[in-house]
Amino acid sequence: MTIVPGVVVSSAALPIDVRPLLGAGVSARIPEKGSLSRGALLGAIGEADALISLLDVAVDEELLAAGPKLRIVANVAVGYDNVDVPAATRRGVIVTNTPGVLTAATADLTFGLLLAAARRLVEADDLVRSGGWQGWSPDLMLGTEVSGRTLGIVGLGRIGQAVARRARAFDMTILYAGRRPVDAAGELDARHVPLDELLGASDFVTIHVPLSPDTQHLIDAAALARMKPTAFLINTARGPCVDEAALADAVSAGTIAGAALDVFAAEPQVHPGLLASRRSVLAPHIGSATHTTRGRMAELSARSVAAVLAGQRPQHVVNPQVLDG
Ligand code: DGY
Repeated sequence: MTIVPGVVVSSAALPIDVRPLLGAGVSARIPEKGSLSRGALLGAIGEADALISLLDVAVDEELLAAGPKLRIVANVAVGYDNVDVPAATRRGVIVTNTPGVLTAATADLTFGLLLAAARRLVEADDLVRSGGWQGWSPDLMLGTEVSGRTLGIVGLGRIGQAVARRARAFDMTILYAGRRPVDAAGELDARHVPLDELLGASDFVTIHVPLSPDTQHLIDAAALARMKPTAFLINTARGPCVDEAALADAVSAGTIAGAALDVFAAEPQVHPGLLASRRSVLAPHIGSATHTTRGRMAELSARSVAAVLAGQRPQHVVNPQVLDG
């Protein structure tokens, strides 16, 4: 009889082959392409000791209850709002995430979106492709200066700090808001201010907080009303941190200059007011989407699974109480 040290189910195809990382004899059930349907996942989880979960799967009571052998849910993302962590904790299931490896890619995309919105790159591309470009003109596609302006970072964690480092290369004044001052802010020359002050003073406001009950609709109609009419909102964190209907109203009324968004409240749905607006740059949740970064995220998740199956402590446990009591 073959002894199987563990069964690992992945909710979706992974960008690298993680099988060699999982440990000898581990049985890995990883789709070749795409994501498992909910029904297929509920069926497969019954035998699983470990679940590698992608962001598009809700790891909720129903799924956890269907996996009585589960020891770990390794979420291939830094955010884990798709996982019911208290439910996992109650069942003694370890939850891990993938911080660090996606910091640079997400900060790069944040800056790319900021520049695209400020310099109207999507509109400019459309103009050239549509044949509407009549030649150089002094007032063609005038945008907003980025260098030397003020950047407001909401949440100066790993990704917020990486965005601040990029902003320094653009000689920007950096403000940040968060529950408490951050040690790294000194070397970044970033000043801690209350959120309302940041909103009123910034030319670009960028969000880098995790989604939680405290940050749901952190940027609501009142917050948007505090922003300058020339300012842009950038969101590469989580869609529900912003009240999308209020944002669509603010952008279409011109009470802010525009928005650049990589995340949405009900992905893949996008608020029709944002779709209709030329003042919005919209991306399909690709903050970490480079070959290198997505590979590292899958690798980190696989290593967490391997550690748990081998009886070791994995890195990046979000519910350490399961291990520490
Ligand atoms: C994350 O890691 O939380 C991103 O949103 C997906 O890469």
